[in-house]
Amino acid sequence: MAVFASGSYDPDSITKYSSITEQIPRRSIQDPETYQLIKDSKPVVITDTNLVTSASKWDLEYLNKNLGDGLFYVYTSNDNRFKYFDNKRAEKCKSFVTPSERHHVTFLQFLQMLKRCARTKEKVYLQQTLNDSVGTNIVTDFLQFNWDWVNKCQAAYGWGSLSSNLLLIGLEGNITPVHYDEQENFFAQISGHKRCLLFSPDQFDCLYPHPVAHPCDRQSQVNIANPDYKKFPRFRNAHATEAIVGPGDVLYIPMYWWHQIESLSSRIPPVTISVNFWYRGTPLPDVIQYPLSPQQRVSVMRNVEKMLAAALGDAEKVGELLRTMVEGRYTQ
Ligand code: OGA
Ligand code: FE
Repeated sequence: MAVFASGSYDPDSITKYSSITEQIPRRSIQDPETYQLIKDSKPVVITDTNLVTSASKWDLEYLNKNLGDGLFYVYTSNDNRFKYFDNKRAEKCKSFVTPSERHHVTFLQFLQMLKRCARTKEKVYLQQTLNDSVGTNIVTDFLQFNWDWVNKCQAAYGWGSLSSNLLLIGLEGNITPVHYDEQENFFAQISGHKRCLLFSPDQFDCLYPHPVAHPCDRQSQVNIANPDYKKFPRFRNAHATEAIVGPGDVLYIPMYWWHQIESLSSRIPPVTISVNFWYRGTPLPDVIQYPLSPQQRVSVMRNVEKMLAAALGDAEKVGELLRTMVEGRYTQ
């Protein structure tokens, strides 16, 4: 039974990225390979989880009726890109220009913003953690998510607790640029198609993340649609794997895997809708095995940066100290 509106996307509307060759495997919930991939912290699109089938009726009208009177975080951008930034750090850092504007609005105001966007070049993206301000119908749909399956996965892989479910409602062309999250993610697509590009954690040196204390911590500095190879020469060595997810698909995005997510065309409803399931990572084992995994290396680098910033009392001085330590000594 096709529960989700089928919809399609226009292959010509896709931004071309030269480095993509590989496709992320698409597997059934019954395929043992699905679970081997998740166990190995490798991405996989799972096609038949029914994880959010109860949300397949969500369209703008239904959501407007049932999401309640709470406020939603909605971002606007003039260049399609919605690079994440930490709002508190952004407010403290006077020289930082926010890459998008953050608004806190009702769902009705969001619908008005969507209408306005149809006439302008501006793009709008709702990104709100689901909370208890939603109406009873949404609560019912939420309770009918396939908790049985995700809970079993969480237990099987020893993940920590579910930290949140983020609801994302976006327009064709919206891009969440390359970043990594410090959580395991089952990314469930409800409506429209999204193109997801993933880079493995061992490509840290090719993706040039902002410093840990920066408002854009965890985000790559490289705009992969138009890379500045002078500034970021090792991006030439980066290679992505790709998945196009549509209604009913669930993409497993392992913790520390870099990802960029682009909304492709979507007609009925005229938006892409996704809900993610973010889980805290597996607690550290009692005995660490060496050599460290690429994920553990990223974690170590983050901690070194944080410790140095704390010890120096100024995150701006970390680079200088690291240069002094390394240049001419470890760079020969
Ligand atoms: C995520 C994520 C962005 C998007 O779920 O971790 O980065 O645009 N989503 O869907
Ligand atoms: Fe993410």
